[in-house]
Parts: sequence; structure tokens; C-alpha cells
Amino acid sequence: MDRIAKICSLLSETETFADVGCDHGYMAEYMLKNCLCRTAYITDISEKCLKKAETLLDGYIRAGKCIPVVCDGLAGVPKDCGFVLIAGMGGEEIVRILSESFLPKKFLFQPMKNSEKLRRYLAARGAKLERDFTFSDGTAFYDVISGQSEGGGAYTEEEFFFGRENLRSPSADFIEKWESEAAKLRSYLERDNMAAPHREDLTSRLTRIETLLDKIRLSVF
Ligand SMILES: C[S@@+](CC[C@H](N)C(=O)[O-])C[C@H]1O[C@@H](n2cnc3c(N)ncnc32)[C@H](O)[C@@H]1O
Repeated sequence: MDRIAKICSLLSETETFADVGCDHGYMAEYMLKNCLCRTAYITDISEKCLKKAETLLDGYIRAGKCIPVVCDGLAGVPKDCGFVLIAGMGGEEIVRILSESFLPKKFLFQPMKNSEKLRRYLAARGAKLERDFTFSDGTAFYDVISGQSEGGGAYTEEEFFFGRENLRSPSADFIEKWESEAAKLRSYLERDNMAAPHREDLTSRLTRIETLLDKIRLSVF
């Protein structure tokens, strides 16, 4: 499924919605068009990027239903915002944004990398992760992590690495992602000119992935 359509299908009704790093503004348009929120904040650190969303959502902005803000992360979003979306940024950048502002009541994050770091951060803040899975749009794999700021429990090391939902019900996309990662690692490890600590890191990563794939084949989960 198309990445933006998939993200939109996971958004839920709220009074106030914020799309942080909105760029084109398609997700806020989906929320407003479908009457899923009363007010949508669209924010971006780049004035040029935000301009695209402002053009798309001009009617809603003039009606006072959409509020554009040029800002870093959540700086321009009210703390009581009901649902915050941050998609298309790195997991470390999402962690930085949350550390410098607040943990939204409800959130959906779609990190482009470093999902494990984001999961660890959210769990340490006591957040409850309700959806935590991988999907493919046919060209790349994406992780979705959504939930709420309170009610979190313990996560295992494997869950931090792979995502809880992926372990409970591994999808074809998830299996394909890790089979392809394992193949890349195997071919990389065939090289001779690699420092020993780097080789050890990659070997341990490969072992972890192969162990998981074996468990899935044996349906251990
Ligand atoms: C790859 S685009 C993703 C756009 C959209 N969210 C999506 O998922 O299709 C990343 C956007 O995030 C914005 N951005 C990057 N860092 C940001 C930050 N710290 N605060 C706000 N916006 C940021 C960029 O300017 C860019 O428009």
C-alpha cells in the first residue's frame, strides 16, 4: 500500500491534530476532509516546505480550521493537542523533538530509521505502544509506532529490535524485510577487509535476525 494512504488509514478522530514536519500536508488534508479533527496544526522547520501544505490547505486555513506554523518539532503545537503525527523523519530526530518538548497524549510515528531507539525512548517515558509494525509500499519498508503517553509496560530486547506486533504476528512484509537484511549482511561479511569489532557487530546482528527467521519458520511465536 502507498505509504501516505497507509498512514492516513491509521489516524484516528481527535479534537486537535498536529502533523509535525508536514511538508506537502496530505495527512492534515485527510484529517480535515474526513472531519476527523476540528483543528489541524501543520508545522515544518522549513518555510518552503510548509508553503506547499499552506497552498493545499488554503481554504481550511482561511476558515480557521488549519493553523500553519514554521517551527522546530513541537514548539508551535499546544501541549493538549489530542493526536500528533510525525512521519518521514529519522527516529533519532523524533526522539530529540520529544525530549525537547512533550510526549503527546496520542501519537503516530513513522521513523525512516532507528526505530529501535524510538521504541526504547517511548518505553522509558512510560508510553503505551498500541501498534508497532512494518509495512512495505513495494519499494521500501517502513515502521509504524503508535500509541499513547501513559499505560506502558515492559518491552523485551527482541521487541525493541523488531517491534512487538511484528513478533506476535509476523507479516509477509516484515519477513521480507529481514530476509533481505540478512542476505545483505551475509554478502557484506564475505569481505576480507573489515575491522574485527565491526565484523563482530555485524555477525551478532545477523545471528539475531537468523534466529528470529528460524523461529518464525518453526512458528514459535
Ligand atoms: C521527508 S519529509 C516528510 C513529510 C511528511 N511528513 C511525510 O511523511 O510524507 C520531512 C519533513 O520534515 C521536516 N522537518 C525535518 N526536521 C524537522 C523538525 N525538527 N521540525 C519540523 N519539521 C522538520 C522537513 O522540512 C520535511 O518537510
